[in-house]
Amino acid sequence: MNNNDKEFNELLKEENLRKIKYKIVVMSGKGGVGKSTVSTNLAYSFVLSGAKVGILDVDIHGPSIAKLTGIEGKELTFGVNQRPKPIEATKNLFVVTIASMIENSDDPIIWRGPMKMNAIKQFLSDIEWPKLDYLIIDCPPGTGDEPLSVIQLLKKVDGSIIVSTPQDIAFLDARKTINFSRQLNVPILGIIENMAGFVCPKCGEKINIFKSGGAEKACKDFNVKLLGQIPIDTDIVDSGDNGKAYVYYYNQKEGAIIYNKISEQIMNSLGDRNEITNNSRGQYKI
Ligand SMILES: Nc1ncnc2c1ncn2[C@@H]1O[C@H](COP(=O)(O)OP(=O)(O)OP(=O)(O)O)[C@@H](O)[C@H]1O
Ligand SMILES: [Mg+2]
Repeated sequence: MNNNDKEFNELLKEENLRKIKYKIVVMSGKGGVGKSTVSTNLAYSFVLSGAKVGILDVDIHGPSIAKLTGIEGKELTFGVNQRPKPIEATKNLFVVTIASMIENSDDPIIWRGPMKMNAIKQFLSDIEWPKLDYLIIDCPPGTGDEPLSVIQLLKKVDGSIIVSTPQDIAFLDARKTINFSRQLNVPILGIIENMAGFVCPKCGEKINIFKSGGAEKACKDFNVKLLGQIPIDTDIVDSGDNGKAYVYYYNQKEGAIIYNKISEQIMNSLGDRNEITNNSRGQYKI
């Protein structure tokens, strides 16, 4: 790539970034704690409030946003100048993931840091993003190449959300993610404790499978907000596997109610919630 191409790509990226009001990264120290599920459900929750939302999946080796939003197998479409557009999972929800750019979803992506950085750069420059209220960036676990690259490329990130399960071993890593966010000057919107207890459907007793209290302690130690505690719910697993929005189809369940409260807190702390939303929750049909 010559210098002119580099400058042109930088201009395309800047033009895209100008169209996005708030950029939020979702991170965790450990794998499998529910980041992608959180990213997807918060995105749907914002959409249900009347916002226009993008999800950028920067998990290059293990992308799951295509599955979670039900866009698996959908092909990219091209806009003016033949630039690819994000896939519209539902009205006002736009998704970009490497999963829609590879032929066989079982093929592994065997790339080192610089190639991943290039792919993320292209997601932000080559893709023609629409005007968005929120861009949610779903990261792979840890503090490696992908979160670092995307935060550097975005220049200004409005906030990070750190997801953890309640046990000490998960918070050991979550604490590193808190420091990572601070070192990169990304304000921490808060921690979401996921898989926080399971209510037995037969007897109603709450069982803390992964213990409890880890989030409260970490939030106190680091002076970070606890955004909410989402229980274990088999409907979260099913809706994820079927590419359905849990917060929409199960909107009466405790987990969905908590998700919606979390999204409201985030909108409020980022400011001008009323400007973005038209309080249309309940009227939107997916
Ligand atoms: N609150 C919950 N209750 C029950 N299952 C959940 C909950 N949250 C997430 N899951 C399930 O846990 C699994 C892992 O979730 P997810 O893929 O979102 O984690 P992740 O942190 O993004 O993983 P990775 O680190 O691999 O990117 C999924 O099957 C998902 O449906
Ligand atoms: Mg994930």
